[in-house]
Amino acid sequence: MAASRYETRDLTQLPIEALQPGEVVLNAEQIQNRVNELAEEIAETYRDQKLILVGLLKGADVFMVHMMEALYKAGFTNFETEYMQVKTRDNQLESSGKIDIIKDIPPEKLINKNVLLVDDIADSLTTFVGVAEHFQPYGLTSFRTLSLLEKPSRHRPELRGFPLDFVGFKIPDVWVEGYGLDSFEYGRGNPDIVKGPTPGALAFKAAQQK
Ligand code: IMP
Ligand code: MG
Repeated sequence: MAASRYETRDLTQLPIEALQPGEVVLNAEQIQNRVNELAEEIAETYRDQKLILVGLLKGADVFMVHMMEALYKAGFTNFETEYMQVKTRDNQLESSGKIDIIKDIPPEKLINKNVLLVDDIADSLTTFVGVAEHFQPYGLTSFRTLSLLEKPSRHRPELRGFPLDFVGFKIPDVWVEGYGLDSFEYGRGNPDIVKGPTPGALAFKAAQQK
């Protein structure tokens, strides 16, 4: 198990910027413990209701799998899963400020349902707000968001009032990689979340450009 120096949910004031690329920010065990806590909260919130977890590909895939298992273990089994894919950046580290829907969900799967939108990280909030607006005409019974990570300092000022319902960890404005999160499509399989982009990711990108 890779060691992490941090033992808190709010990492925003910690000197993560000073870590070397590849150093662990959150290890797999810390992440799993927090996933289990979030699952308890979600199970409590939706008790006796049916839930649709809508995962945002590709970054939320690892989180979704662990969350589904954690919900089951928390005794909450009354859910379905759906997946959407949206893009806000073209293989770059900066957000374009708008969403492109690459894979959508037929509205009839969501109408009159409790929807929990799941992403790996809430950064500028462009993704969450864009998808919330896309769902607006559907008449959902309820809409909430779940993200493993949040970078509060990166929220676009005009989107700051958007409610984030369930958040795993808050982090400062530092690029991270692993547990589904990529740098240039590299590093999603790392069970830990590390500072990125890692040397491996840079080499991967350089090889693609040849
Ligand atoms: P937002 O729309 O700016 O909130 O961005 C959300 C998306 O940006 C996430 O789904 C991630 O794919 C990506 N993202 C933001 N920060 C990071 C990071 O530090 N590492 C990897 N992906 C990130
Ligand atoms: Mg993403």
